[in-house]
Amino acid sequence: MKAAVIYYSFSGNTRHMGELIAKGIQKVEGCEARTFSIDDVDFEYASSCDCIIFGAPIYAAHITGQMMNFMLTDSDRLNLAGKLIGAFATAKYVHGGAELGIREILDHCMVKGAMIYSSGDAMGEPVIHFGPIATNDMIELERFEDTFVIYGERMAAKAKELFG
Ligand SMILES: Cc1cc2nc3c(=O)[nH]c(=O)nc-3n(C[C@H](O)[C@H](O)[C@H](O)COP(=O)(O)O)c2cc1C
Repeated sequence: MKAAVIYYSFSGNTRHMGELIAKGIQKVEGCEARTFSIDDVDFEYASSCDCIIFGAPIYAAHITGQMMNFMLTDSDRLNLAGKLIGAFATAKYVHGGAELGIREILDHCMVKGAMIYSSGDAMGEPVIHFGPIATNDMIELERFEDTFVIYGERMAAKAKELFG
């Protein structure tokens, strides 16, 4: 099972958390994952993946303009229909809009015919309702690292179950 993690990151937080998701995916036997900034996507590889996970920082309670622009334009080159899709976000504040940002990404992918997944509460702790979030204000980013690795494992296991 091939997976791609595609993100926008200005100051590195989202890139770092996306790399942890890829690490989690690769813990699942037979699964490979590559990470790409939206500026440097290998579309041949990513469009052939069964699973794609998108990540964005939150600006003004939404995903950044760069990420939204990618979703509205370049994501058409990823053949999202029928793929398993997840999303994650990094933000400064717990109440800063990260879940809204994740929903923006997932809603867009539904419009494109993708299947969305997060594991929800079906896998126990850590419960991940919409997608993992890392904040960096009162709580250090590192506090969320294990959850991002586990999320990658869960996404890969579900994609493997669906696609082999
Ligand atoms: C212009 C700007 C607007 C931001 N707006 C929000 C916001 O509305 N809510 C929030 O929680 N964090 C906000 N942040 C914080 C970023 O989402 C956070 O630092 C994020 O981890 C940055 O990701 P990056 O290092 O991948 O670029 C904002 C940061 C900037 C620079």
